[in-house]
Amino acid sequence: MEEKKDGFGSKIGFILAAAGSAIGLGNIWRFPYLAAKYGGGIFLLVYIILVVSFGFSLMVTEISLGRRTGKSVIGAYKQADSRFGFLGPVAAAVPFIITPYYCVIGGWVLKYFYVFVSGNADAATDSDYFGGFISQAGQPSIFFIIYAALTAAVVILGVQKGIESVSKILMPILVILSVGIAIYTMTLNGAVDGFKYYVLPNFEGFTVAKLLKTIVAAMGQLFYSMSLAMGIMVTYGSYMRKQDSIEGSVRQISFFDTLIAVIAGLIIVPSVFVFSGGDASALNAGPGLMFVTLPKVFDSMSGGRIVGTAFFVLVAFAALTSSVSLLETMVSIISERFKLQRVASTIVCVVIVIVMGMLSVLGYSSWSEVSIFGYQILDFFDFISNNIMMPIVALLTCILIGYVVKTKYIEDETTLNGEKFRSKGLYDVMTKYVCPAFMIIILLTPFFVDL
Ligand code: PFF
Repeated sequence: MEEKKDGFGSKIGFILAAAGSAIGLGNIWRFPYLAAKYGGGIFLLVYIILVVSFGFSLMVTEISLGRRTGKSVIGAYKQADSRFGFLGPVAAAVPFIITPYYCVIGGWVLKYFYVFVSGNADAATDSDYFGGFISQAGQPSIFFIIYAALTAAVVILGVQKGIESVSKILMPILVILSVGIAIYTMTLNGAVDGFKYYVLPNFEGFTVAKLLKTIVAAMGQLFYSMSLAMGIMVTYGSYMRKQDSIEGSVRQISFFDTLIAVIAGLIIVPSVFVFSGGDASALNAGPGLMFVTLPKVFDSMSGGRIVGTAFFVLVAFAALTSSVSLLETMVSIISERFKLQRVASTIVCVVIVIVMGMLSVLGYSSWSEVSIFGYQILDFFDFISNNIMMPIVALLTCILIGYVVKTKYIEDETTLNGEKFRSKGLYDVMTKYVCPAFMIIILLTPFFVDL
């Protein structure tokens, strides 16, 4: 990011940029449907435990690695230990897989914004509306291309500063609006059952296989939501000021990221209960959950058209700050590697995004018969990035830090500003033993358990 080459001007600037990248569709769209699918309360519990242990450790590692080496992901691993240089490109490949389908979903959000703003929200309350929309290739492609173009426009203009200052205003509004909608949802008849399902773990009929599946899903979500294991936090770390606290920043970023996800689930899960008459199987709508249920909630409230419009604008905005960081990473890699100017490089990247994103669009429409290892195309991209590539990057990063350069390498960086590394004990155990073991389990699980 051009303006960032000379670093973030303040601690809050860094936290906002990192949180802007972290908070996005992963929190509002992906987290609730996973929580719904994997048993509500249990998923929530597993996820929160993973955030404060595993997510915390990996984010501290990535930010410290970036700040210590002063390099983006490609150079950072190489500098830490030349034998691990290959990890940089592997991590850098992840945004190339995620960005295209991220923009496809960004397009769905734009479509819903359009539906609300044009006063057609009524139609969207029909349960088949969403399925009908994504199963025809035309409209989703148009909204996808508009969304990708918007992302590219921001990257070309390099208005990182603009987007950051707008985030400062819009992110708090997103929190307030979400809390408001969550409270409203709670007042609806039957919402309490959904609330209980969402927050209370239910261990009845719970098997080891189910627990494994839940952990694997929660871990994938954690990488995605915290923008980990894909080089972003390494690059952001390289822009961070030496006097700022790494540990403190990581705590704040992960707190906000988790808060938004939990609130989104508080809206979506109980409202599914309300509108399905308490039928928990309605929660299995998968990626469509947000698009199927929220319009019904908005429709049921007075002033729903305005609240719905505002909600989808803010979701689009949260998504945009994330997709900009994703595209920006792709652009910087391509321009570095092929010595291209920023504009040319952005164009190359957008073409890649559009071609690959179209595969995801078609995967729901003309090619809906196509399945790769049992996944639809979009889900397949989601699966290989979250469940295969990121665990590999995370596993090797832990081996690099835990056994090759040793955790002191990271500790030295976190204590540069004179503060103690308070969670050093937890960090060491996680990095050396727990994380590698988890990553191996995640990588092996698909061979034994049908996910
Ligand atoms: N963390 C973002 C989200 O939860 O929506 C998605 C994302 C953004 C992933 C940027 C990766 C990334 F580099």
